[in-house]
Amino acid sequence: MTKLSVNINKIATLRNARGANLPDLIKTACDCERFGAQGITVHPRPDERHIRYQDVYDLKKVVTTEFNIEGYPSESFIKLVIDVKPHQVTLVPDAPDAITSNAGWDTIAHLSFLQDVIMRFKQYGIRTSVFIDPVEEMILQAKKTGTDRVELYTEAYAKNYAADKQKAIQDYAITANVANKIGLGLNAGHDLNLENLQYFHQNIPGLKEVSIGHALICDALYLGLENTIQLYLKQLV
Ligand code: PXP
Repeated sequence: MTKLSVNINKIATLRNARGANLPDLIKTACDCERFGAQGITVHPRPDERHIRYQDVYDLKKVVTTEFNIEGYPSESFIKLVIDVKPHQVTLVPDAPDAITSNAGWDTIAHLSFLQDVIMRFKQYGIRTSVFIDPVEEMILQAKKTGTDRVELYTEAYAKNYAADKQKAIQDYAITANVANKIGLGLNAGHDLNLENLQYFHQNIPGLKEVSIGHALICDALYLGLENTIQLYLKQLV
């Protein structure tokens, strides 16, 4: 079974645009779960331009499905994650000013850094995932970091899907097989949507979780949140 984790960053962006509590992030998270989402993802950034650190503490009290916190493992992020103890932390190599994640880790260059950080999370029983491009060498090296899972960065797949979906999925299918073979759990995310999700799911064996934010929240404007979540879940059966 592949879990759908809804990334609620965009709800926080909308709230922050006016300074009050509308939309209510906590209520939205609870509603996503009520409508069938099997997880909630947040990506607090150092400037707190969408998810604030306080949101993460508040969400921990109410999220009953899988709670996933993603971000660059700065000391303040590590402290937040260890305080909150989510089910999963996803490590992303994004610069503080990045609009959104735009690359996977170079697991060769950053091996010892990732090993150290992952060991710290493991001491608290927090599952780890490392955001990664679909490159065999990077997956093999990711195993050495001690991580439980990798999250395949699907931006390239999404970008190339319309032109040639078979070609777009190729590197992902190859690296998924490698991950399965060496015992790394497999997540995926970025730019997945109602058009490209089903094909990805059908062609990636052992996919444990997708985290989806931007497209899902945009679809919800037209289709409603409940209906949208149901539609995304249907792509994953
Ligand atoms: N995974 C990671 C590591 C991300 O940074 C993001 C965006 O915050 C996502 C998944 C979700 O991407 P999208 O918003 O395009 O669905």
